Amino acid sequence: KTEDRVTDLLKRMTVEEKAGQLNQLAGDLNTGPASGNADWQHKLEAIKNGQVGSMLNVVGAAKTRQVQEAALAGRLGIPLLFGYDVMHGYKTIFPIPLAEACSWELEQVERNHAVAAAESSSAGVHWTFGPMCDISDDPRWGRVMEGAGEDPWYGAQLAAARVKGLQGNLDTNHILACVKHFAAYGAVEGGKEYAYTDLSRVALWNKYMPPYKAAIDAGIATVMNGFTTFEGIPVTGNRYLVTDVLKNKWNFKGFVVSDWNSIGEMVNWGYAADKKDAAFKAISAGSMMDMETQAMVKFIPELVKEGKIQMKEIDDAVGRILYYKFKLGLFDNPFAYCNEAREKATLFSNENRKQSLEAAKRSIVLLKNENKVLPLKKEVKKIALIGLYASDKSHIFDFWKGQGNPNDAVSLQEGMAAAFGTSSISYSAGYVDLSTTTNKSLIAEAVAKTRSADIAVVNIGLSGDLAGEDRSLANIAIPADQVELLKELKKTGKPVIAVVSAGRPMILTEITDLCDAILYTWILGSESGNAIAQVLAGEYNPSGKTVMSFPKATGQIPVYYNHFKTGRPSTTDGKGNWYSRYRDVDNHPLYPFGFGLSYSHFTYSNLTLSDSILDNNHTLQVKVTITNDGDHDGEEVAQLYINDVAASIVRPVKELKGYQKIMLKKGESKTIQFTLGSSDLSFYDASGNSVVEPGKFEVFVGGNSRDVLQEQFWLK
Ligand code: IFM
Repeated sequence: KTEDRVTDLLKRMTVEEKAGQLNQLAGDLNTGPASGNADWQHKLEAIKNGQVGSMLNVVGAAKTRQVQEAALAGRLGIPLLFGYDVMHGYKTIFPIPLAEACSWELEQVERNHAVAAAESSSAGVHWTFGPMCDISDDPRWGRVMEGAGEDPWYGAQLAAARVKGLQGNLDTNHILACVKHFAAYGAVEGGKEYAYTDLSRVALWNKYMPPYKAAIDAGIATVMNGFTTFEGIPVTGNRYLVTDVLKNKWNFKGFVVSDWNSIGEMVNWGYAADKKDAAFKAISAGSMMDMETQAMVKFIPELVKEGKIQMKEIDDAVGRILYYKFKLGLFDNPFAYCNEAREKATLFSNENRKQSLEAAKRSIVLLKNENKVLPLKKEVKKIALIGLYASDKSHIFDFWKGQGNPNDAVSLQEGMAAAFGTSSISYSAGYVDLSTTTNKSLIAEAVAKTRSADIAVVNIGLSGDLAGEDRSLANIAIPADQVELLKELKKTGKPVIAVVSAGRPMILTEITDLCDAILYTWILGSESGNAIAQVLAGEYNPSGKTVMSFPKATGQIPVYYNHFKTGRPSTTDGKGNWYSRYRDVDNHPLYPFGFGLSYSHFTYSNLTLSDSILDNNHTLQVKVTITNDGDHDGEEVAQLYINDVAASIVRPVKELKGYQKIMLKKGESKTIQFTLGSSDLSFYDASGNSVVEPGKFEVFVGGNSRDVLQEQFWLK
């Protein structure tokens, strides 16, 4: 039995060897500030001496084999665990997780992550640091790209699908997953990376915990601490989160890894006196593996000798890590994942690229389509394609691109050439990356090309490199030079299609009137250009719906659909005084959560409930009819929300509780049915216990969180 093998091995280990298992070192790449000490020779020495349990950022079948050999040469020959951030693909890059979430297709999501697992596992990787499950509603935060947006219920569905795709049944085609950043990193103050978080327990439980919990329930093997604080204590040293909740309340049996130097950073937070104190506080809180601080390996033997930490605490932590090494079969075949032949056959295969293309098309969100300018009609013969990002592949991927090579990715220019023919496209850059001044000659060239074309497709937004860790931005409006470009293009009188690439919702207020259509394409991965071009051409009818609200102005942030009620709600969209609002911008986002257009049009009618009363032992059927009354076949994501009218704590104005993505032929109507039970109406109290309270509930169904039909019922 695995547990017996763990116990047997623990008995044979010295305290130094146990501390070594808690040490994780980075290999070839730094995904945090370099600790600056070891070169490879020293790292290999430390590995042979049993001072390292895991490596991160070492990839490739050949390289991992070589490093694994060093571990096997040690006294006990305990194999290493290789971890790597496989956030949305390893070599074949998929849409960023935020974009993927906009597809509302859990099976597709699971498949995406299964491909990522198959590719990375063939290249020696055992473990990814994902899925990132931080609910996030502040688009200034660069890491919103990694998550599932602002809704806890939908975030929980995605968390489970991603874990299933990555871990499968933990054979050699799959990898261990790691839910992060525990907990509530998405609430970080002002969307600023590595900053403080101040949060009530009811907010923690209701808004932030559901996706983490769903990942645990889906059997995730590991959890990562975050870089922030909860109740004034860095989360890495937070006993309430790690021991009381994760280990005791949730009965989590896997292991916890710190974030990059998040143990050492407790000194900078002023929560630990020095690294020894930090190691003590981290292990006492229940945290386990130490990414890059090297405090556990150095100080645990001393702390045990001094009686500050008990050996059983160390055995618990180390035992959990060893358990997964046994479970992956590494003691029996340490090179099972270092398979050069499989690596060659798997990475960037045609099949994987096909999957990525499918996922990318389904992630795109159509925000505006005036006069049905899209899809591009047959009569459109000449297209002015404008935008640096459409052509320069160095902007195509985000920071978490894994081993993806941007040169292998399909640019928009290439995708357009493939879909419309090279001779139909005339390209110009239009702007310079990160420019603060307008480049008049680039604009003039773009205007000239537009004048001699039928239509302009303008790729604007942000370089992919501005999405990911350490990429918080104070200003997320469309850059001024791109706005200027659009203004000049508008003057040509030709239809202007904006294709916006970014790893976050940007503020589009200034550009909505400057373009006829807006296609929000996020960061789509290896097949980006093909996916966008096929949507522009109408080969795929867009079906994505945004999972983050688009703010009208930076000062509105955070703006999210499931905001809490207020004592002074606005009753109208007008300018009345004495209610909760800003005087200069209204309360509504530019595009709400769940919003996304199709080339077709869907009308909702006949919202009916099977009863006006629901009791604990029964369910309520909610029916609605959806008609495709546009002129294309298309898919629609029908969403169901509830409002708990009066409760013992203040509740959100609306909460998503269900959705269905359905295909409707043009002219077709379908009646769909949702089922609500009392558990769908529950919320959490400050101790994380689920509470169901009788009373009145409103139910809403529609194609986004704003435009809904409404009914009501009572829970008995
Ligand atoms: O996994 C990441 C984490 O999300 C942020 N800091 C670095 C880690 C390892 O690369």
